[in-house]
Amino acid sequence: MKTLYLNSKENNAIQTAAEILRNGGLVAIPTETVYGLAANALDGEAVKKIFIAKGRPQDNPLIVHISSIEEIEPLVEKVDPRAYDLAEKYWPGPLTIIMKKSAVIPDEVSAGLDTVAIRMPSHECARQIISASGVPLAAPSANASGRPSPTKASHVAEDLDGKIDAIIDGGESEVGVESTVVTLATTPPTLLRPGGITPAQLEAVLGEIAISPAVFAKLKEGEKAESPGMKYKHYAPKAQVTIIKGSFEKYKKFLLAQKDTVCAVCFEGEGKYFEKYIEYGRENDDESQAHSIFDALREVDAMGCKRAFVRCPVSDGVGLAVYNRLLRSAAFRVIDLEIGIPVIGLTGQTGAGKTTVASMLADEGYAIIDTDILARKAVENPEVISMLCAEFGEDIIKDGALDRRELARRAFATKEGGAALNAITHPEITRLAVDLIHKAEKDGAKAAVIDAALLFDSCLTAFCNKTVSVVADEEIRLKRITERDSISEADARLRMSAQPPAEYYIEKADIIINNNGDDNLNEQIGKILLAVK
Ligand code: TXA
Ligand code: MG
Repeated sequence: MKTLYLNSKENNAIQTAAEILRNGGLVAIPTETVYGLAANALDGEAVKKIFIAKGRPQDNPLIVHISSIEEIEPLVEKVDPRAYDLAEKYWPGPLTIIMKKSAVIPDEVSAGLDTVAIRMPSHECARQIISASGVPLAAPSANASGRPSPTKASHVAEDLDGKIDAIIDGGESEVGVESTVVTLATTPPTLLRPGGITPAQLEAVLGEIAISPAVFAKLKEGEKAESPGMKYKHYAPKAQVTIIKGSFEKYKKFLLAQKDTVCAVCFEGEGKYFEKYIEYGRENDDESQAHSIFDALREVDAMGCKRAFVRCPVSDGVGLAVYNRLLRSAAFRVIDLEIGIPVIGLTGQTGAGKTTVASMLADEGYAIIDTDILARKAVENPEVISMLCAEFGEDIIKDGALDRRELARRAFATKEGGAALNAITHPEITRLAVDLIHKAEKDGAKAAVIDAALLFDSCLTAFCNKTVSVVADEEIRLKRITERDSISEADARLRMSAQPPAEYYIEKADIIINNNGDDNLNEQIGKILLAVK
C-alpha cells in the first residue's frame, strides 16, 4: 500500500483524512500527546486493520476519540456525572476516561472488556478530522507495537510507512507522552496510566483515587493487568535501556567508567562530557522532559548504540508519566547511585586470600556482596536471556533452561564474544549489586564490600570509595590453591597465569593487603577500616 503524506495546513488535508476514515481506512493523525493511528471506532472491520498495521496484541483495547462532549453519550451505558466534571476541567486535553460501554462499541475496540476509554484531544487538527469524519475515532499511538510512541510524523513513517493509508503531519506533539487514563468503573476511580493530567489534578475533581499497581511495578507472573497496555516491555528502542538515579556528578562518573561505548541520555548541557549522547529536556523541568523522551529513545537506535543510560526524570507532575514509560522501556532496570554508606571494592589474585579478608570485614559489620553469585543470578533474568539468545543463538537454551556451559563456550571463543557477553550481563550485575548495597544500608551495615575478581575491568569502581587488592607470593598462592581445590600444581599454575600479574592489582588499588600468612593481617585490615571512617 502506498501511504499518502499530507501536511495539516494543506487545505484539503482534513477532508481527505475524513474521507479515508469514513471509507474504513487508517490515518495517522497528530494529537497533543502523541500521534494516533485512527480508524472509524464504530466499524469493527476498520478497527481490525489497526491491530494488523501495528502488530498490536488483540487483548489491548483502544481509546475512542471525540470532538465534543455531547459525543460521549451514545458510547456509554450511562454517563457517569463525574465524567462531565472531569471533561469540564481537563477536556480537550491529555485525559482518557473509562466507563461502561454501550452496544455501539465493537468488541474490536474494547478487546472484549465491558468498558470503553474516551478522550477529547486538544490538538486542533485532530478535532477537525474527528468532526469532519462524523464518527468517533479509535486511535492507539501510531507506532509499531512495543516501540517508543511517535511524537513526529517522521516517527510514524519509520514504523508504518506502506502499512496505512495516510499520515497527516501536524508538527511535533506538544505534551510528548500519552494521555492519563482513569477508570470510573471502579470504586474509587483508578489511575491506570499516568500522563499529562496529574494524580493531584484528578483528585481535585474525584476525591480519593486508587493507583493501579501496574503503574510502577512489574506485574507478577499470571497477574491480570487492569490496563492491558501496561504489561511488561513497551516503549522500547532496540538498545538496552537503564535508568540512572542520582546527581549528574555520580551519573557522569558511572558512565565514564563503562568499558564499552554507551549512549548517555541526559539533560540539556550535560552531553558534552560523553562520546555519544542525546539530551532530553532540561533538568528539573518535567514538561520539557516529557516533550522529548520518545524522540530521544528513537535516536538511541539511530545512533547505533547497544546500551543507553537515561538520567532519571523529575518525579512529579508529568514526570511521573515519563518515569512510568521509561521503566517499561528499561524492563524495570533502575540503578540508584545515591548511596549513603561507604563502598569498598575488593579484588585480588586467586589464592591470595580475598575471601579471608572479606570475612574479616564481615565481622566488622560490613555487608559483603559476592559478584560471582550476582553473575549467576543475572543470567536468570528473562530479558538478559533473550538478549543472550539474540547474540549467541537460540540454542543456548536447552530443555527450557540456559545452558551456561554452552554460553561460556561460545562467548569466550572470541574476544568480541566475551565483550558482548559482558555488555549484556554487566548492567544487570551492577543493578543487583547496587540494590544489595541499598539493602545493606537499610539494614544498618557500616559499609558494603563488593567482592569482584574482575573489579578493575568493570564499572563497579565508579561507586567504590576505596579499592583494595589482596596479593600474596606466587609459591604461597600455589600451595593454597592446590590444597583448597585439590588440583594438581600444573592446573593451579594454569589458573594463576590466566590472571593479570600482581602489578596490575597493585597499581590500580588504593589499599594493598599483603597476605603471605606471616604478616599481621589484622593490622592491615585496620587500614581499610580507617580509610572508610
Ligand atoms: O494520548 C493518548 O492516549 C494516545 C493518543 C493517540 O490519543 N493514545 C494512546 O493509545 O496512547 P494506546 O492504545 O497506545 O494506549 C491506550 C491505553 C492502553 O494502555 C490500553 O490498555 C488502555 O489505554 N485502555 C484502553 N481502553 C481500555 C479499557 N476499556 N480498560 C482499560 N484500559 C484501557
Ligand atoms: Mg501505545
